[in-house]
Amino acid sequence: MLNIDRLREETPACSELIHFNNAGASLQPQSVTDAVLQYLTLEQRLGGYEAAEAQHQASEHFYTAVAGLLNCNPREVAYAENSTRAWNLLLHAIAFEPGERIIIGESEYASNYLSLLELAHRHQVNIEVINNDDNGLISLQALEQRLDENVRLIALTHVASQNGVIQPVAEVGKLARKHNILYLIDACQSAGQLHIDVNDINCDMLTASGRKYLRGPRGTGFMYVRHSVLNYLKPDAPDLQSVIWTSRDQFSWRDDARRFELWEHNVAARIGLTVAADYATALGVSNIEKRIKTLANELRCKLSELPRVQIHDQAFATDSETALNILGGIVSFSVKNADAVKLQTHLRQHRINTSVIRRNNTRLEFEVRDLPDINRASVHYFNTSAEIDAFCQAVRTFQV
Ligand SMILES: Cc1ncc(COP(=O)(O)O)c(C=O)c1O
Repeated sequence: MLNIDRLREETPACSELIHFNNAGASLQPQSVTDAVLQYLTLEQRLGGYEAAEAQHQASEHFYTAVAGLLNCNPREVAYAENSTRAWNLLLHAIAFEPGERIIIGESEYASNYLSLLELAHRHQVNIEVINNDDNGLISLQALEQRLDENVRLIALTHVASQNGVIQPVAEVGKLARKHNILYLIDACQSAGQLHIDVNDINCDMLTASGRKYLRGPRGTGFMYVRHSVLNYLKPDAPDLQSVIWTSRDQFSWRDDARRFELWEHNVAARIGLTVAADYATALGVSNIEKRIKTLANELRCKLSELPRVQIHDQAFATDSETALNILGGIVSFSVKNADAVKLQTHLRQHRINTSVIRRNNTRLEFEVRDLPDINRASVHYFNTSAEIDAFCQAVRTFQV
C-alpha cells in the first residue's frame, strides 16, 4: 500500500497545483531534486572531474538501479540523454540491407517514425505499419501474417503518448522470438508506470526517459540491450567510453551496453535519475501501476459523465474490467466544439497542468481515427480523488 499523504509531502508542488501532466514531465520527489543540487554544489566546490571521482559509487549505482527496474543485468543498461537519442542510437546501430522490412504499430511515437522515414530513404528499407484493433491494441493477427525472414526489426511503443492503451508487448515478443526478429520497445511512458520485465517481454532492446513516470530530472534517459544481440549492433560514435583502444589504429567495442555511451554526460542528472529509480523500486512498481490504473479509470468515469465530454482511449468503451487492465495513466479526451489549447489554458488558470495532443504529431494514429487536436490529462500515484473532482469541476466551468 502506498502512503499517499507522505508521498505528497515529499512532492512539494502537490500543495501548489494539480499536476495532470505526468506523461509530459512528472513532478520530482524532493530527494531527487536534493541529490541533483547536492551534486552540483559538490562540482562547484571540488571541480567537475574531482566531484565525479568522489561520487563514483553513486553514479555507478545507476546501472544497478535501472537493471532492478527492468529485471536485467546492469551490464545490459546504458545511460542516454533522452529516449529519442537512445532509440536512434539503437536503430542506427543495426546494419540494415536494402529491401529489409521494419514493422511498427499505428501508435508509434512521432519522432521514432520520423527516424524510420529517414532510414528508409537512406537504406532502402521498407516501413510497414500494423493498424490497431477497436480497443487500440496492435492487431496480433495482422502482425503475424506479415512476418517472414525479410523482417529485420519490430519496433513497438509500449504506451503511446496520445492514449492510455497498454500494448501487448509480451505477445508481440513471442512472435518476434518465434520468427527470430530483433525487437525494440519504446518504454518512455511505461517506465516507472508499469511493471516491466524484459525477459517476460522478450525484447532485445528498450528505451525510456527519466522525466516522465519515473519522476527523474529532465534530459535523462536510458536503454536496455540484451547481451546476446550486442554484437549485431555497431554504434556510430566510438569514444573513450564506448571502446577499448587496443593499438594505434585499432579498437574494440565494449562488451556491454555502455558501448552506446559517450564519456561526457550530465553526472548530476544521472545521479538524480538513479535516486528516482530507487524511489520507484522502494514503492514497488506493481503498487504504482495499480494506483495509477485505478485513478485514471476514476478520472475517465467522472469525466465521461460531464456533458459534451468524449473520452478517446478506445478501450474505455469496452467492458470495465478489460478497460482497467489495458488502460494506464494517460486519459485522452475532448469537449465538444472546444478548442483544445483554450481548454488547456483555462485549466492552467485553475492551477491544473495538462497537455494537448496535436493531430500533426500523431499522424499515423489520428489520421486513421480522424481525430483533431485533443486534450490529455495524465495522472500519477500522488494524485488524488479530490484532485480529480476539482479537475472535473474546472472542465465543467469551461465556456466553449
Ligand atoms: C512514447 C514516447 N516515446 C518517446 C518519447 C520521446 O522521449 P524523449 O523526449 O525523452 O526523447 C516520448 C515523449 O513524449 C513518448 O511519449
